[in-house]
Amino acid sequence: MLWETVTFAVVLLQILMTTSTLPSLEKTVSSDITASEIDYRLPTNVKPIHYKIILNPLIEEPDPSTFTGEEIITVKVIEETESITLHYNNITIHDVIITRASTETNLTVNHNYDTVTHFWVISLDTSAGEDAERTFKANEEYLILIQYSGHHQDDMYGFYRSSYKDTEGKTVWLATTQFEPGHARRAFPCFDEPAFKATFEISIQKKRNLHAISNMPIKNDENEHYYNFETTPVMPTYLIAFIVSEFKSLNKTENFHVWAREGAIEQAQYSVDVGPSLLNAIEDFLLDLKYPMPKMDEVAVPDFSAGAMENWGLTTYRERIILYDKDHATAATKQQIATVAAHEFAHQWFGDLVSPEWWNYLWLNEGFATYFESFATDMVETAWRLKEQFVVRDLQPALAADALLTSHPITQYVDSPNSIRSIFDTISYEKAGSVIRMMEHFLTTEVFKKGLRRYLESRKYSNANEEHLYDAMNKEFQATKPELYADVSNIMHTWTRQAGYPLVTVTSEGNQLTITQKRFLLMPSSTPEEDSALWTIPLTYTTQDGDFHNTSTKQWMKSSSLKIGRPTEENKWFIFNVQQTGFYRVNYDENNWSLLIRYLRSDNYEKISAVNRAQLLDDALNLARAGVLKYSTALELTTYLIKEEDYIPWYSALNDFTFLNLRLTGTDAYPLFKVKQLSCRLLYFIIFIIFSTALIISKKELIFSTYEIGCLKCVHSHHDLKFCHRNNAERKSTIAYSHNDSTYLSPNLQSVTYCTALRHGGKEEWNFLWNKYVSSNYATEQSLILTALGCTTDQALIDGYLTKSIEDRVNIRRQDAASVFSAVYSNPDGFQLAFNFLQANYDSVASSYGTGVSSIITGIAGRIATQEQLDEFRKFVENKELGAAAEAARRAVESAEQNLEWSKIHGSEIESWLKGEPTSTVPSTTPGEASSLSLSPAVCVTLFTSILYQILNTFKMK
Ligand code: BES
Ligand code: ZN
Repeated sequence: MLWETVTFAVVLLQILMTTSTLPSLEKTVSSDITASEIDYRLPTNVKPIHYKIILNPLIEEPDPSTFTGEEIITVKVIEETESITLHYNNITIHDVIITRASTETNLTVNHNYDTVTHFWVISLDTSAGEDAERTFKANEEYLILIQYSGHHQDDMYGFYRSSYKDTEGKTVWLATTQFEPGHARRAFPCFDEPAFKATFEISIQKKRNLHAISNMPIKNDENEHYYNFETTPVMPTYLIAFIVSEFKSLNKTENFHVWAREGAIEQAQYSVDVGPSLLNAIEDFLLDLKYPMPKMDEVAVPDFSAGAMENWGLTTYRERIILYDKDHATAATKQQIATVAAHEFAHQWFGDLVSPEWWNYLWLNEGFATYFESFATDMVETAWRLKEQFVVRDLQPALAADALLTSHPITQYVDSPNSIRSIFDTISYEKAGSVIRMMEHFLTTEVFKKGLRRYLESRKYSNANEEHLYDAMNKEFQATKPELYADVSNIMHTWTRQAGYPLVTVTSEGNQLTITQKRFLLMPSSTPEEDSALWTIPLTYTTQDGDFHNTSTKQWMKSSSLKIGRPTEENKWFIFNVQQTGFYRVNYDENNWSLLIRYLRSDNYEKISAVNRAQLLDDALNLARAGVLKYSTALELTTYLIKEEDYIPWYSALNDFTFLNLRLTGTDAYPLFKVKQLSCRLLYFIIFIIFSTALIISKKELIFSTYEIGCLKCVHSHHDLKFCHRNNAERKSTIAYSHNDSTYLSPNLQSVTYCTALRHGGKEEWNFLWNKYVSSNYATEQSLILTALGCTTDQALIDGYLTKSIEDRVNIRRQDAASVFSAVYSNPDGFQLAFNFLQANYDSVASSYGTGVSSIITGIAGRIATQEQLDEFRKFVENKELGAAAEAARRAVESAEQNLEWSKIHGSEIESWLKGEPTSTVPSTTPGEASSLSLSPAVCVTLFTSILYQILNTFKMK
């Protein structure tokens, strides 16, 4: 069965190339984004100026572990008012006193709390006699003194607790924070909205050997009982952080430390090495606008709800996203560690120095942070081709997410906590990052950098909305290029204030091109709104005789249709969207597609840039999926891949094949899909990538992983290739590779090796790996094994594994539980079991996974391939009380329905193409262009055999 080939190749690719997505953080297109009827916004008549907070954490106490706090908030009244409203949540107020600063008089107050909005309304007690003050006076300052207590909970929000085992196996507790977007209110009463900026002076009581860190350095006048931190600059509540722990640190300079538990601290070396260079790279990019804080601490937190967090001067991370050991982590992990640090560091300016006015401008944080992940890291790790990777990892997935009717504009009003949480999605991150890159290209990099600096300078220590960004860009554009005119604001609104993006269709007649635009939707629907939506598009194009360097706008397109002269002769191709700098897709007439296909099959194909080859693949396969291009044309185009040696186009192709793979499973077309075309190509790819320079992986490692895949294929297809029939002992020694120095197994190969061994092994192999997981000191390795453990085909083991994910909190952290589930449903032998398990244990899964449950429902739905499965799923969704996941489930049903519909519409067309029936007007291969395009199964097998021999020889040489 060739299924395996693709699955494992995809697994392999994930290991080798993708920055693995964090399962519990999976960003989907949001749900619950409509404004609610409840007013969640604080009144603006009172502003906080300064917070003095003294905390006494009591984490060593047995359950429930509590903390106490004393706080003085200095507020300024802007407009006379009878009450002051602020937030708290999950804490108990013991006492509150309000003093008028100018007269130092204490006022008698009443207070009320609302459990839905978390509003705490403090009003003057008007029954307190004739001369009692009735209002808080404008322009006066008041001090609010509060005594309170709370619990350090285990849910990874607010001032929570986390734990780990020390080298002697003893449990060590720590207390740490996660406040974004609205959890600071769980640690201290506060005005918990990003526009209410103030200064903060934090003190933490000393306890035994516990050490405390916070946003600012510890003051010199450190006394015996408290860690007193310097006062922060004006900043929002959501960026405050403090950590009380026994952590140790490594440092590069006096002001740059990385902290982790003692047993893992040496794994912090790469982060310590790369961190300061990343901060410098961002400063350079911003034309020397310096990092605004006196120090930077990065902390590896054992239990962490997000992937990483940009607290000002104190960034926090999951262990596996900051701790790196070259013998226990893949090359992809190393890339992720650098890019995530760049992301959080970019926030130090975008978000921390200049904060969004409100969460509808979240994208001014996350869009820029996503942009700098690639563009700052590229300045430090120059060999990783991150500028190109941005297109296939960020822009193309954003195009996919934004092609659904349920998408939303980048600037989207939200107010309830659920709706705010829901916009931390592909639109606010990857689409915003892509649209920012598009702006850079139409303004030029020079103007863009100056504009960014102007924007930050003009809004520093304050808040911003999108207009502030556009104003700054406009000013710099006009100053630098007075001869040109661009109205940045009007252009950008078409991209940020409406959902979706255009499909640009270019057709040619004689020496004229007709260009039209229309919203691109994967499931075309024609509401009048969709039909009339327009974008202001910076068109770029090049031709067969042109180059791929110039990305400046050749032609602005505002209307629905436009004519320009044909840029090249009729027998030569043209390509729109050079380097895919624009956020749109392009369709052509048959003639241009066929010229492109021919050219790609010729020896000159590399003249089309790698990014544009990736664009052609991704556009064509998605246009076909949406029914605007024949599948036969898109599939003809993919046949050039037989020669493709570059990582970038393959990344796009494999991403898009995943969809075909899932959809065609179980259909008549499936075996053909695998045998005749793609599986062979995947092997080709894996071989060819050995010689490509995209990644920091040795040749031997790739050859070894190919060997694993090759063997798997042999085992399942019963070809008599003796060297593939390995016995149990050999399988075990494969697993044992990684902990036996003489037969070292590179981390880049562990995933595929473990997975293969588990698929062919049984309980013994599974237990071996489980024990390895439990005893590993490396979060990166643990995460890799946790995924591999889902590969077993033994139903009892799968069931036991799922049960562990909800019951075994000693060994599987809450943050990792959802990745166990996705490991199981991604395994074809595990899908049905995972689904049954979810139905039978929904309540325990939901309570033990927390927010991860929505991504599980979406993941299961994405793999539904038959009407029976869909009916079962629909019944489940209708009969269960799904709580917060209900909206995700509704969408999941919709998309599963669409997927089945897709199979009905396109299944037979794909099957005919695979069978080689003439369906396309695009000329099929002519001899000499790519003679191996229609490989017969026999050729395929010969190919495999020769590859395997080659690999075996490599082993013998070892
Ligand atoms: N600001 C976010 C962390 C966050 C995410 C807080 C969601 C609250 C809700 C941080 O900068 C971030 O984006 N983290 C990413 C990691 C990444 C994409 C580099 C995350 O946690 O997914
Ligand atoms: Zn971020």
